[in-house]
Amino acid sequence: MRHGSLDWLGLEDKVCIITGAGGGIGTAMAMRFADAGAKVVLLDQQEPKVLKAAEAVKQKTGIEPVVQVCDVADPASVAVSARTCLEKVGPCDLLINNAALLRPGSLEEITLSEWNALIAVNLTGYFLCAQTFGQQMRIKSSGAMVHIASISGTHPQGFSGAYSISKAGVVMLSRQIAIEWGKFGIRSNVVSPGMVETEMSSKFYEEPGVRERRSAVIPMGRIGQPDDIADAALFLSSRRANYISGEEITVDGGYTRMLMNLIPRPGYSQN
Ligand SMILES: NC(=O)c1ccc[n+]([C@@H]2O[C@H](COP(=O)([O-])OP(=O)(O)OC[C@H]3O[C@@H](n4cnc5c(N)ncnc54)[C@H](O)[C@@H]3O)[C@@H](O)[C@H]2O)c1
Repeated sequence: MRHGSLDWLGLEDKVCIITGAGGGIGTAMAMRFADAGAKVVLLDQQEPKVLKAAEAVKQKTGIEPVVQVCDVADPASVAVSARTCLEKVGPCDLLINNAALLRPGSLEEITLSEWNALIAVNLTGYFLCAQTFGQQMRIKSSGAMVHIASISGTHPQGFSGAYSISKAGVVMLSRQIAIEWGKFGIRSNVVSPGMVETEMSSKFYEEPGVRERRSAVIPMGRIGQPDDIADAALFLSSRRANYISGEEITVDGGYTRMLMNLIPRPGYSQN
């Protein structure tokens, strides 16, 4: 059977909207949800990327996902996508907010338009999708949302402009959805990845030695892969997480627990 071992997740025939589905983590999540029997709908601003992702899902799972070119920062574009998805596959059961940008820049130098452009996608885009697809969930009194944030939402990452700030906002958006829409049977949770190898981060790994230096500060000793994030999103969306809401799962191989290890303590070090 196609998704026999994944039946325990209870995701069969669930309508699952994934934003930023043309990217590394988005495509991995599309594979995972399709494999679990969900009806996946792939949203992305970049048509070639999302079509490529849809083809990859079809090749791997035999399921042909619905594809929508959508700019999550544009309310009209999100509204059209929501209407089209409703007509094609029915009301949304699961929303995976994932589309985001990362841009370099120090706080003293980034311009207002750079700030606004990033917040528009990374935070306002998450809100717009939650509000619009959440409406379909509220009508049928059930649904689950997973918002992909970042460890940088808790630990500020300098010279990334508004990125860390947007991710901190996503964490609070999720908590607020959990408390306001719990009465509609909607759960809302966050997955916060650490370092993951995708197009967003690929430039970093082009530099000689970066992979080794990064791996050395992660207890698991390796850079995260998109599937690591997809598995956490799959769990939080599933019936196995039926009473979990307003929470955050960090998926970073233990990296953010390394703080105490940075303190020099002669006699207590293995090296
Ligand atoms: N890669 C990492 O190391 C890492 C670490 C922490 C968090 N994250 C988060 O994981 C998520 C996925 O990141 P990724 O690494 O797969 O990135 P990616 O760049 O591979 O994919 C992001 C996708 O979002 C799409 N997108 C961008 N703006 C959009 C818009 N306005 N409307 C619709 N789609 C839009 C892009 O076209 C792209 O396909 C993001 O939220 C990111 O912040 C990634």
